[in-house]
Amino acid sequence: MGRIRILPDQVANQIAAGEVVDRPASVVKELLENALDAGATRIRVEVEAGGRKLIRIADDGQGMNRDDALLAFERHATSKLRTADDLLSIATLGFRGEALPSIASVARVTLETATGEETAGTRMEIAGGKILHVDDAALPRGTTIAVADLFFNVPARRKFLRAESTELAHVTALITHYALVHPEMHFELVSATHTLLSAPPVTRIAERIYQIFGKETLGQLLPVAAETPLAHGGLPEPPPWKRDPDEPTRNPGVLRLSGFYSKPELQKLNRNSIYIFVNKRLIRDRALLHAITEAYRNVIPPTSYPVVLLFLEMPPEEVDVNVHPAKTEVRFRQQSLIHDFVRDSLRNALIHARPAAGFLAAHAAAGASPSLMPPAVSALPGAPESVPMEQFEDSDPGAFQNGRAEAEAFQLTPRVPSPIPGKLPFAAGSFDQKAWGEAASALFTPPGLPLTDGCSSGSAGLADYAADTAAATAQVEAEQAAANLNHLGSLKPMGQLRESFILASGDDGLWIIDQHVAHERILFEKILRDRQVERVQRQRLLMPLLVELKPWQMVVFARIAEELERNGFEVEPFGPQTLAVKAAPVGLEGAALERMLGEVIEQSGTDTDEPKQNEDLTSLRTRIAASIACHSAIKVNTPLDPVRMEWLLSELAKTSHPTNCPHGRPIALLYSWKEIQRAFHRI
Ligand SMILES: Nc1ncnc2c1ncn2[C@@H]1O[C@H](COP(=O)(O)OP(=O)(O)O)[C@@H](O)[C@H]1O
Ligand SMILES: [Mg+2]
Repeated sequence: MGRIRILPDQVANQIAAGEVVDRPASVVKELLENALDAGATRIRVEVEAGGRKLIRIADDGQGMNRDDALLAFERHATSKLRTADDLLSIATLGFRGEALPSIASVARVTLETATGEETAGTRMEIAGGKILHVDDAALPRGTTIAVADLFFNVPARRKFLRAESTELAHVTALITHYALVHPEMHFELVSATHTLLSAPPVTRIAERIYQIFGKETLGQLLPVAAETPLAHGGLPEPPPWKRDPDEPTRNPGVLRLSGFYSKPELQKLNRNSIYIFVNKRLIRDRALLHAITEAYRNVIPPTSYPVVLLFLEMPPEEVDVNVHPAKTEVRFRQQSLIHDFVRDSLRNALIHARPAAGFLAAHAAAGASPSLMPPAVSALPGAPESVPMEQFEDSDPGAFQNGRAEAEAFQLTPRVPSPIPGKLPFAAGSFDQKAWGEAASALFTPPGLPLTDGCSSGSAGLADYAADTAAATAQVEAEQAAANLNHLGSLKPMGQLRESFILASGDDGLWIIDQHVAHERILFEKILRDRQVERVQRQRLLMPLLVELKPWQMVVFARIAEELERNGFEVEPFGPQTLAVKAAPVGLEGAALERMLGEVIEQSGTDTDEPKQNEDLTSLRTRIAASIACHSAIKVNTPLDPVRMEWLLSELAKTSHPTNCPHGRPIALLYSWKEIQRAFHRI
């Protein structure tokens, strides 16, 4: 007898489950996507013990009849796909027909479903892949799936589950994402003790952001929207005489981008606050993450990340979603076009908006900045402050391909909730869960709208709430629009504060401009421009400046010498460990010149010198420009006459990013007229 055997279905399903579900959040993801595919308008998720004990998802979607309900748990049973060709135009979130059988093979599942057309609905129980009961039941239209005791029959996997609060954080993050792309839907997440999220329908994503994250976060975000026609994927359209007259002309469609991006003052230490959705599907994509960081290059520090909610829409055939069982990774047909479009749209938006840092916002950004997490689980004792995303670090490109990375895609940073003025239910060090629950409900639930009511989205309470939300977002948007640096050139400098900051008055309020970083930004952009056309101005030093270097620094110098020369330096070796600087860019002299050279060499390599070997020329160029700018800019503690102050402001106005210095520090703070009036109790 041969040794090869076909695996029983249950074993095959458990193997598939290893790829599709590996923690409560991935179960929630699959069930939530099914509910969305079923056209639900309201989805309620209940979890116990972070989802390890119970996950129950109820939707008001189209439901299933008895035959379909039975089939749904068969392997590769799906209503969303018929032929392989359909794969090219997937408009649903699911299509592989794997989720339900996988989940049912590793948990105890109860399904209740009804289409609303027949007299009876269906109630079914399955445990470890075996159907235990199927009964008729009187049920309203929709589907409720309860998944209890996840991995009860796979102890090895159970061991990999983390603390309850961690799992709950993942579940919350996940539901938050879907709530963001579907503002028109009603989402609820409840645990045994309290409501973690309740988001009734609203009309715009901005309102949803306000609803979930609050005014402070919305105030830090700016809207972006752009579109571009898509090319024919590199395939030229056949000439008219070769075209099949019956075949309609292929229309490659358009690529649409919309969403929100953070002002440069808001800087995060990891990428966990970057959310990318493609055709309403949350994805992780290395190239798009890169495009986003590129857009913020030299506006925020290279070690920081912005907060971005990016919604891309494109014809389904432009993107292959069938790359991995969990479907969070996709492949674009025109990857570089999409990459460049995202980078340029965001960058243009930033240049155009010139968002000013407000006093309060700058303060918040430095400390507990608003975060893209609903004030929920993160407040629970033991909840992780942040969940590492090292799987996505550039140092490990292979990680993206493996299943762990996939599952980690949803580990987005849970943070301590942004304070609700006057309602914060806990002092530092203590936590009152009940009070928190109440505060959270007060925040999330419109007054008079019970959390547990039916799907009455048309109720007056809800309408009021949506109107309130809309008014609040309109207010935030108006304030955002006001606070920009477009009128820098017309500000009137009034004097200096401690010979370091320029005070200037404008229609919009009082401005404080950091003279050093302002000048730094002006010089930085000028140096890059001059370098581009090879017209850097250099000056001869009266006496060559001698600089001593260590052997490894000499090696680094040799590598960057040519680029330094193009930036106005004339440097020659003077003995084995000494350089003689004979000319330097205008404005750079003496000690500053020496410091600048030391800094660039330091930043361009180390004694091990591996990673910087093959860095691209652009980053080297940028680094040199930033360093020259920093060391030749006006220092703090320098008196300036009115003419110079005016010159500084008008030159700053001409730069493309007057908001931040190349290292990411804010340049100008606005104490808005409104804030001033408020502070003096005039409004
Ligand atoms: N909440 C739901 N409402 C209606 N139908 C559902 C629901 N969940 C699952 N189904 C049906 O069960 C089928 C199998 O689901 P699943 O295993 O997730 O595979 P897929 O979503 O890839 O089709 C779906 O194609 C759908 O027809
Ligand atoms: Mg599915």
